[in-house]
Amino acid sequence: MTTTSTRTPADGLSATAARHLLLNMTPNGSLGQDGENLFVVRRGEGPYLEDADGRRHIDGLSGLYCCQLGYSYAPEFAEAAERQLRELCFSPLWSSSAHPTAIELAERLARIAPEGVEATFFSGGGAEAVETAWKIARRYHALRGEPGRTKAISRRGAYHGLTIGALSLTDDPGLREPYGPGAIDTSFVSNTNRFRLSPAYADDEVYSAHLLAELEAAVLAEGPETIAMLIAEPVQNRGGCITPPEGYWPGLRALADRYGFLLVADEVITAFGRLGEWFGGDLYGSRPDIITVAKGITAGYAPMGATMVGDRVVEVINQPGAVLNHGYTFAGHPLSAAIALRSLEIMERDRILENVRGHQDHLATRMNALADLSIVGDVRGAGFFYALELVGDLDGGGFSDRARADLVAGLIPRRLREAGLLARVYNRAAPLVQIAPPLISDRQLLDRIADILAETLAEASARL
Ligand SMILES: Cc1ncc(COP(=O)(O)O)c(C=O)c1O
Repeated sequence: MTTTSTRTPADGLSATAARHLLLNMTPNGSLGQDGENLFVVRRGEGPYLEDADGRRHIDGLSGLYCCQLGYSYAPEFAEAAERQLRELCFSPLWSSSAHPTAIELAERLARIAPEGVEATFFSGGGAEAVETAWKIARRYHALRGEPGRTKAISRRGAYHGLTIGALSLTDDPGLREPYGPGAIDTSFVSNTNRFRLSPAYADDEVYSAHLLAELEAAVLAEGPETIAMLIAEPVQNRGGCITPPEGYWPGLRALADRYGFLLVADEVITAFGRLGEWFGGDLYGSRPDIITVAKGITAGYAPMGATMVGDRVVEVINQPGAVLNHGYTFAGHPLSAAIALRSLEIMERDRILENVRGHQDHLATRMNALADLSIVGDVRGAGFFYALELVGDLDGGGFSDRARADLVAGLIPRRLREAGLLARVYNRAAPLVQIAPPLISDRQLLDRIADILAETLAEASARL
């Protein structure tokens, strides 16, 4: 129990939050019990965050994969925001009306998008962008005389958002079941995680062929004429930075073409430099029909989502007389659009993609070296996006309940926090530690992150 005399700023804020603030994905009713404080973030600078009690942390997660530029560009963003607000605070993209900033941003995005993707529908965040992709896919098929394409395919363990439509595409029974049957009839196929699979799948060609055969069988079982779209991330976040084998994305493209469904690349995390490219799918030859983005599009300085649509689809949904009967009041908000434009400008000017490309091999070397620790079963990732899958015994097996409680829920997150690194520790069937540092990080910071992970996981390994 905290006494008044020892109350810190975080204590006071935690108590107020426990009473008045309902947090996302949080056991809100348990907040404040057992003397547990909320982690209250007060300010940011460079790649660092300072908490309400004045402690500094490396933001090893870029504020949930949003803050590509860290926290030091505020004056430039403030100037962009002020200029926009003085000019025009708000105007919707509704009923044949638009404003110049959204038009400029849409044109700007077309310049960096993969070839053949030139039009954008804006929204407020990732889940809205995903639901927009779904509606566009349905409209596309209906306008082509195939209204029976009412099903989606997603991948096991994938997360595509929590609004009711996006939730149907998210493979997490714990998240879905409380809300009844999904709004979208979705079947799930394997993701591209080959850890614990047969050594034969170490060969990219063999593994891709295996995954594509499974997908094709699923499409045939559902009925190809019923499938509207397949959604997949270039590198799947949930399950731990799961990279695809070579040939997988070209294979998805070929199956989409053969069976007539649309290929949607969910780049909510992987776009805007996370993998060293504007769009992570470019690394893997993704050639999607639709790309969903959010998070890094504004570098976290304002909320925004966007659904970028390929020419072939636009040609159909824009046919004379067809109405895109979908929308959000704040879609393409002038403030968010001005911030996104400024962020893209800064990323280009300060060569942020080049920074990732220049350091990614070093980060890969440092992360791969952690595989020598007995608690690390697998290291996965690309660019500035890595996960370590933890194993509970020296033979690479699972965790006992006790080791899970002691290490995955206890020692590891505690030590990382004490060492001043914000990383994601998932205490799930496959426990993971994940990092996604700001794209401005230099070699020294990446080394510091790797050192903290190494020290923490060496201590945990010794306790196995
Ligand atoms: C791949 C992916 N898609 C969609 C979403 C949903 O985005 P939002 O939380 O902005 O709705 C997320 C969120 O983390 C995501 O990681």
